[in-house]
Amino acid sequence: MMRMTLADSLMLLVINHDEIIGIVVDRPLLAPNVAPANESPKEVLIYNHNESPQVPHAPEYIFFYGHKAPKQGGETPISSSVELFHRAQQEIPDFVNQLAEKGILSKVTYKTDKQYTGGSTLKQAFGKEIQDGDNEATKRAKIEAQIARYGRGKHTTWEWTDDGVVLTHRLPAIRTQPGTDLPTLFTGLAAYYKNVRVNAAAGRNVTQQLFGDGTPIPEEYLAALARITDEIRVLHRWQRGDVLVYDNIIAQHGREPWQGEQADRVVMASLFDGQVPGAYISEDWAQVVQALEG
Ligand SMILES: [Fe+2]
Repeated sequence: MMRMTLADSLMLLVINHDEIIGIVVDRPLLAPNVAPANESPKEVLIYNHNESPQVPHAPEYIFFYGHKAPKQGGETPISSSVELFHRAQQEIPDFVNQLAEKGILSKVTYKTDKQYTGGSTLKQAFGKEIQDGDNEATKRAKIEAQIARYGRGKHTTWEWTDDGVVLTHRLPAIRTQPGTDLPTLFTGLAAYYKNVRVNAAAGRNVTQQLFGDGTPIPEEYLAALARITDEIRVLHRWQRGDVLVYDNIIAQHGREPWQGEQADRVVMASLFDGQVPGAYISEDWAQVVQALEG
């Protein structure tokens, strides 16, 4: 799935982030940069997506390690987001033009308590500096300091609520691959679309994705993305010991439901920063930046 030079490999050893600022899932660390890929129930379909498309700080490389494989189901899909862009440009060009021009407004709700099984808490997302005994003002200041690490100025705003905070990011859904400049559709839109239709239990997205001008994205476009993805993806059937490596800029992953017990499938994930993707159009909001250390 991935073309990696020796320089890239060495970079991985140097740039080793085991965090996603503003993570939306519960990913408890078992060892440095090793955590279960996803803790949501086995019935839940996690449809294809690039990792962390809803926030400005996404990893560039993802390693999955299969420790326990279920007898039936639980495959990990692989699909090309370069191909997804190409197909979408051919089949739904109006959508691609609008995405390019407007980008995405991604509204992510964080709450003090977990919002669903497998979801993160506000503290997991932004609270790593919070200490027991911090008062409300100190907690907020510490959370805002984490948000500032995105380094996106006015393109990331936030609003405090009674039980958490809602972040709004203006983000590019189309990015480019460093080296080739190929456009890639970096998105979780098909996954959001599928989630509310397929997963009765999960059913609700904590992220709302609109066009960058705040208008809703017509469902027919989301359905088309899901249909194209169905056609271009392959499913990796796990055997114990398998390792999958994804270049997150150009490849999407997900998780099929499985039968049997929850514990029948154990897949670990390690995430790494690398080079950030390039901008497809020259607007301020259309370029993601490397998050600040902290
Ligand atoms: Fe993921």
